[in-house]
Amino acid sequence: MSPLLPSRCGVARSANREPPPYRFPADFLWGTATAAYQIEGTQNDDWAAFEQDVIQHRRFEQLAPGKPRPGHIHRLGDYSEEIRQKKTDFDSRIEDDLAMAAAMGHQAYRFSISWARLFPSPAHTEPDPAGLAYYQRIFAALARGRMTAVVTLFHFTSPAWLWQERAGRRGWERPDALFHWERFVRAVLHHFGEHMPIVCTLNEPMVYAYAGYLDGTFPPLEKRSGPKELVPVVAQLLRAHALSYRLLKEDAARRGKPVSVGIAQHVRTFAPLRNHNPLDRVTAMLIEQAFVWDFLDAIHSGVLRSKVMNVELAIPGLSGTQDFVGLNYYGRFYVKSSWRNPTKFEVLMHDPAQAGSDRPNELGWASYPQGFQEALCEAHNRYYLPIYVLENGTADSKDNDVDRQRLLVEHLRELYLARLQGADVRGYFHWSLIDNFEWAEGFTARFGLIKVDYQNNFQRAPRASAALYTRIIEQSGLDSELLEQFGPWP
Ligand code: FCB
Repeated sequence: MSPLLPSRCGVARSANREPPPYRFPADFLWGTATAAYQIEGTQNDDWAAFEQDVIQHRRFEQLAPGKPRPGHIHRLGDYSEEIRQKKTDFDSRIEDDLAMAAAMGHQAYRFSISWARLFPSPAHTEPDPAGLAYYQRIFAALARGRMTAVVTLFHFTSPAWLWQERAGRRGWERPDALFHWERFVRAVLHHFGEHMPIVCTLNEPMVYAYAGYLDGTFPPLEKRSGPKELVPVVAQLLRAHALSYRLLKEDAARRGKPVSVGIAQHVRTFAPLRNHNPLDRVTAMLIEQAFVWDFLDAIHSGVLRSKVMNVELAIPGLSGTQDFVGLNYYGRFYVKSSWRNPTKFEVLMHDPAQAGSDRPNELGWASYPQGFQEALCEAHNRYYLPIYVLENGTADSKDNDVDRQRLLVEHLRELYLARLQGADVRGYFHWSLIDNFEWAEGFTARFGLIKVDYQNNFQRAPRASAALYTRIIEQSGLDSELLEQFGPWP
C-alpha cells in the first residue's frame, strides 16, 4: 500500500462560499511580530553604521514614493538624534509594551535577538552581560503575560565588526562567519533555550540578499552584476540555517523539550503586468520561483538549485531542516519585461492602470488577499508541513486605520479558507505591534497596531485595528457581522 499523502490544497473558489462564522481552533496562535533593529536602541551593527553615513551625507531622498534610492534612508533627517538612537524607546518600555500586548489578548510575540547586542566586539568571546540582561527582561515580560516567545536569530542586521575584511571578504562571506554565528547561537541557547519553543533562524534571506547585494538599498549596499553573484551569500545563509537547526535540536534534546524550527520567507505573488505578454508571464514565474521558493526548496531537498541564480549546489546537513514553513505576506508585485533585454525587467509595486482594485498602501504596495490563500496552499502542496504566518500587515498611518482593519479581515478570511482546504496553518503574527523603523523607508511607514508618537516622547496610542484584532482573537476568528461589514466577497 502506498503511504497516504495529506490532501492537496487547491484554490477551490467554492470554498469561498463557506458560510460564516469562520472560527479557528483553540490552539491557533495569535500574535504580533517585531525586529530588534526596528524598535530597539542603537547597537554597534551594520545598519547603525549605514544610518550614520546617511546622516553625514544627508542622503534622505527616494526614487519615488515607496521606492528606496540606494544608499538613502527616506526622510531620516526629519527625526532627531534622540529618536534615531532610541528608535521606538522600546528599551525603557519593554514591560509596558508587552503588558499592553498581553492585555490585548495576544498569545505570542515574535522578536529578534540582536547579534551585535550580545557580541558588540570581536573581543567578546562571551556574550555581553548587559545584552543578556536586556533579553532576560523580554522573556520575563512574556512569561508574565503568558505569551509564547517566537525568537528570530537573524533579522537583517549583524555586528559592525563582521564587516571588517578577512581574506578579502566581509560579512556573511567571511571565512569565519559561521564560527562567529555558532558562538552567537550557542550563547542564545545557553541562556534562553528553555524559553524558546518556536524559533525562526533567518528572516527573509532572499530579501536580505536582493536588497543588500543587487539593489544596494540595505547594507552592504552592493550592486553586483547579476543574480548569480548572490550565490555565495545565499549558500552561506543556508549553511547558517542548517547549523542553527542542528544546535537548536541538540539543545532541545538535552533539555528534554521540543523545539519547532523554520525560517520566515517573504512570499509575494508576482503577476505579469500585461497578461497577454508571454515574456512578462515567464519572467514573473521565474522571479517568483527564485525569490520565494528556491530557498525553501533548498531547505527541503538539501540542494540549492536555481535557474535564475544559475546554480546547483548541495549543502551538507541542510535537507529537511525545517519543522514548519514560516511565511511573511504583503501582497502582489507586477513584472514588466522587455524583449530587447529579457534579463532587465521592472518590478512594479502596483499596476497604475488598476490602482482602484490594487488599493496601493502608503508605500504603494498592492493589496492582494487572494494571493495569500494561494501562497499558503502552494507552501502546503510543496512541503506538507505546518505553516506559521510570521508577518502580514500594511503601512497605514491613520488613527482610524481602516486599511489595516480591512487587510486584517481580508487576510484572515483567506487564511481560514486555505486551512479549510488542508493547509495546516497554526498561527498568525501581525506586523507589527507598534510603529517602527522601516529600513530604507525610515520612520515614515507606519505598520503598528499601536501608534508611536515620535514627537511626543514616543507615546503609545492603540489604533482602531488593535481593538479589532483583540475582538478577532477573543472570538477565535471572524463572525458574520465582521464578514458582512468588510464584504461582499468574490
Ligand atoms: C518585512 C520585514 C520586516 C518589515 C516588514 C514591513 O519584509 O521582514 O522587518 O520591514 O517587511
